[in-house]
Amino acid sequence: MTGRQRCALNLGDIYRNYKPNIFEPMNITNRRKFIQKTGAIAAATFLGSLNAFAQNGPRKRIAMVGTGVRGLGMWGTSVKAEYDDILQFVGLCDINPGRVAYARRIMELDCPVYTDFDKMLRESSPEILVVTTTDSTHDEFIIKGLEKGIMVISEKPMTTDEKKVQAILDAERRTGNKVIVTFNMRFSAYVSKIWEILRSDEIGDIKSVNLNWYLDTDHGASYFRRWHGLRDIGGTLLVHKATHHFDTLNYWVDSEPEEVFAYGSLDYYGQKNSKISHSHCRPCPFKSQCKFYWDITVSSSAMGLYVDNEKYDGYLRDGCVFRKEIDIYDTMAVQYKYASGVKVSYSLTAFSPYEGYRLAINGTKGRLDTWIQQSMPGGVKAYQEIKIINLFGNVKTIQVMPQAGGHGGSDPLLKDRLFRYPDATDRLRQSAGSRDGAMSALIGIAARKSIDTGKIIRIEDLTELKPLAKKGRD
Ligand SMILES: NC(=O)c1ccc[n+]([C@@H]2O[C@H](COP(=O)([O-])OP(=O)(O)OC[C@H]3O[C@@H](n4cnc5c(N)ncnc54)[C@H](O)[C@@H]3O)[C@@H](O)[C@H]2O)c1
Repeated sequence: MTGRQRCALNLGDIYRNYKPNIFEPMNITNRRKFIQKTGAIAAATFLGSLNAFAQNGPRKRIAMVGTGVRGLGMWGTSVKAEYDDILQFVGLCDINPGRVAYARRIMELDCPVYTDFDKMLRESSPEILVVTTTDSTHDEFIIKGLEKGIMVISEKPMTTDEKKVQAILDAERRTGNKVIVTFNMRFSAYVSKIWEILRSDEIGDIKSVNLNWYLDTDHGASYFRRWHGLRDIGGTLLVHKATHHFDTLNYWVDSEPEEVFAYGSLDYYGQKNSKISHSHCRPCPFKSQCKFYWDITVSSSAMGLYVDNEKYDGYLRDGCVFRKEIDIYDTMAVQYKYASGVKVSYSLTAFSPYEGYRLAINGTKGRLDTWIQQSMPGGVKAYQEIKIINLFGNVKTIQVMPQAGGHGGSDPLLKDRLFRYPDATDRLRQSAGSRDGAMSALIGIAARKSIDTGKIIRIEDLTELKPLAKKGRD
């Protein structure tokens, strides 16, 4: 089983006998009531853009910038296959001409391809733009899409530093448009079930959370092979990876982060931690002795996407996990506090013998405990368990079955909400906008700053956003 498949299992945990009513239709009256109730102008704008999309007839014009593995898989071939009745690709763009041509071929499209994004916006006139470029470039395309007045859907993280967060917020204010940030983890039935449990008062008021996330030496190492190993591009794993975890915690706790303190170091990967190091695996003289040797040539898709197109941008997809350029952390510990007072202890380790996480949410009536294992020497259980333990000892156990589908079924649910059922009631509050994108990225950005300075970083000092004790809807 590959790291990718393991990841899919993790996010796809679903409860036995539990079928969340995610796409319960919402009538106009209810929707108006909801908007009035929350008083959230942002929510109205967000839902409005989805509604407009739903009602304007079939075959919306969709374009994508960033035709790498996520673009091609999540937003490319599957969207073409499953939403062809309502969506029509009118343009693909990537800075790498070979990769964008490969994507068009694999997607079996005849739309134009571009390396110039502005030209694509001008010529192809999309109504929907999907942004799936490398993390630190999202802001440029989000802002240009908002300025063009089209529906902008951005992959996570929304962006990688506080100036870019602010620039996106400014663009929203200037244009009156809102970006959609795709936090697919919210669409996992497992994550949304925990959200429901937390709202059922079974563990009382949440007071603290412990979350320890482990990436194994397959999936974890893969970040150090790729552009993710460079801080300027992925913002470190505190932003690139942990944005999923911080958004999920924000979603569960229903508050916004106030202050952050962190430690981080590169303890295992990177040149200083190894006697052997090279640029990338193919020409490496240490192949036979390196536990991380990866033969990219056996993957026809990786060859087609990356190796065949190295001549255009020099990007080496099978980069050495011990190469000198790596400047991110593989060991991270973050303490932070929500405006509601909830305290969080979070850690992320990128060289673990198994993949998974331990989560404990402590409340005034009890505790919610899970230990999710996606890979484990000796094998993983067919199901996963969540325990709700009353403060005085009663234990309730819920078994969770993995679900098939991209990121465990959360990817198709997310796409259905965006494209097929945009008007459905968002009972589980899974839709996310710029405020969610900002607040999850800002925890990682603040953690990075704290590591650099040794100081506690206040979220309100980073952008115009003032953390809310109770978040509610965006
Ligand atoms: N939600 C999830 O579960 C999930 C999973 C994987 C990736 N992602 C996100 O998807 C995005 C893409 O990741 P990926 O794994 O596909 O990486 P990738 O390297 O395979 O693809 C990124 C693509 O962006 C292109 N690109 C870079 N700069 C560009 C620019 N200025 N203009 C046009 N194109 C540019 C690259 O050439 C490349 O083709 C990232 O933001 C990542 O965080 C999300």
